Amino acid sequence: MEERARDRELIQAAIEARERAYAPYSDYLVGAALLTGSGEIYQGCNIENASYGATNCAERTAFFKAVSQGKREFRAIAIVGGKRKSQQGDVFPDIAYPCGICRQVMREFCGPEFRILVGKSAEDYEEYTLKEILPESFGPKWN
Ligand code: THU
Repeated sequence: MEERARDRELIQAAIEARERAYAPYSDYLVGAALLTGSGEIYQGCNIENASYGATNCAERTAFFKAVSQGKREFRAIAIVGGKRKSQQGDVFPDIAYPCGICRQVMREFCGPEFRILVGKSAEDYEEYTLKEILPESFGPKWN
């Protein structure tokens, strides 16, 4: 499959995952879709908690699902987010960039060229590499 079509599919999977966000406190729903080295997609959503600090972000949900299933190689992650009311169909007014903790979790399992797709829709998205969004990082040695 052509890379752009694959990207669209990954963003669409993030939009679908966002529907399952558990975010009664912030009402900020986030969805992520993580593409493994072998081509599977793991979806994640944010899961909040009445004790706010126990909240898990969508990106980490996707990573922890995949890692706990034995996956160790990752190619890309797509992320979408926004308040429930701001959503217009499958289009979101703002881009949800991954938080610092999630970037650090990516750093643990991904190489410098790991791709991060952050979008307002499957047609309108930005693309970064991990080394761009987490320069001069601390983590396992990069080969
Ligand atoms: N959130 C994510 O799921 N991913 C991020 O990278 C940033 C923040 C969630 C956590 C919380 O449930 C809500 O967004 C508001 O911070």
